[in-house]
Amino acid sequence: MIVLPSASYRTASFLAAAKTLRAEAVIATDAVHVDVGRIGEQTVRVDSSRPEWSAERIVDYARRRPLDAVVAADDQGVVMAALAARELGLAHNPPESVRATRDKGVMRRLLAEAGVAQPDFRIIGAGDDPGVVCAEVGFPCVIKPVSLSASRGVIRVDELAHVDEIAARVRTIADEAGAGPGDPLLVEAFVPGPEVALEGLLVDGQLEVLALFDKPDAMNGPYFEETLLVTPSRLDAGVRRRVEALVGEAVEGLGLVHGPVHAEARVGGGQVRLLEVAARSIGGLCGRSLRFGLLGATLETTLLRSALGYRGEPAKRQSQSSGVMMLPISAAGTLTAVGGQDDALAVPGIVDLELTIPIGSRVKPPPDADRYLGFMFAAGETPQAVEASLRQAHSKLTIDIR
Ligand SMILES: Nc1ncnc2c1ncn2[C@@H]1O[C@H](COP(=O)(O)OP(=O)(O)OP(=O)(O)O)[C@@H](O)[C@H]1O
Ligand SMILES: [Mg+2]
Repeated sequence: MIVLPSASYRTASFLAAAKTLRAEAVIATDAVHVDVGRIGEQTVRVDSSRPEWSAERIVDYARRRPLDAVVAADDQGVVMAALAARELGLAHNPPESVRATRDKGVMRRLLAEAGVAQPDFRIIGAGDDPGVVCAEVGFPCVIKPVSLSASRGVIRVDELAHVDEIAARVRTIADEAGAGPGDPLLVEAFVPGPEVALEGLLVDGQLEVLALFDKPDAMNGPYFEETLLVTPSRLDAGVRRRVEALVGEAVEGLGLVHGPVHAEARVGGGQVRLLEVAARSIGGLCGRSLRFGLLGATLETTLLRSALGYRGEPAKRQSQSSGVMMLPISAAGTLTAVGGQDDALAVPGIVDLELTIPIGSRVKPPPDADRYLGFMFAAGETPQAVEASLRQAHSKLTIDIR
């Protein structure tokens, strides 16, 4: 069973992976209108906002037609998948561990208890004065909602005088995204330095590293737009090993033992510090930049194969360098055209370009952005070549926002 919320970027990739493996897929989704004919599979209705109820629906289904695995494609499905898999006696993460990854405040507390290197942090609760809390952490700091993603509502604050205005803005973004009225905000010390993303797979509690991505664009705020991801990392081997060890400590501290993990860390001042760990694979279409093994299996195929209990050699990323650019959104407005696509695709090394917002849609840049504009993929001999291809191709695009 694959848990796919209504607006997943991953539906096609996971269904293709199931087909590759000749696995019969059942979809758990909260989409009201599921075009079953198009998907060609069975569906079970769930509700991402009610994980316990949803897990019961999955378990009910499994009592009629046994399942071999319950796999969540995205953050919204990880808790129900863990609850259902536990109930069914299938491989799973402890639901409480998974729940902790869904709340950045809870995650920070557990990581602190486990002694994992991370930014200093405080919670801004309902009755707290944001200025006092931020001053305790020190400046610059970062204010963020506890439960959003894609850098939504994440803002750097440089001085006390700006705190109230920025905290109010973060609160508004969180509310608009459907955060609970009592949800706290999180304040963290700003960690300078290069950032990396680690894509991992937990197999019986052991962390296999599937890929380590550099993020070659400096992300110093005040907003944190995601752009380039390039693998393999150009950091030196010692630092890479420390990142891997840190992520290993973090998953152990949280109690995660099974399935994909996506972690982010910053490297600076001789220190490696953990930004966060999610109990899912990389978001958006970014996973398409990865291929594994001799046959070039996709990330989703690799994950489903592992979930179905195949064991053997750990998945090995294909040796070529690869990368993805999440197309930046320069302004708020209506997306009227994306020109130069053929020229971008003609740049050597560029593999694919996919827009994920229809022309005519309203778009917003971070920290308000709630969707990705599109993804461009490249492969090449070296990470430098991949980065250069993506930058050159991006310069060919004219993204017209009115
Ligand atoms: N304490 C920090 N110090 C420095 N940079 C930070 C800090 N917190 C967040 N950032 C920057 O903001 C980005 C988004 O923050 P974070 O990962 O906490 O939120 P997110 O919404 O889960 O993002 P994503 O979904 O992209 O992982 C980080 O990748 C990082 O570049
Ligand atoms: Mg993050």
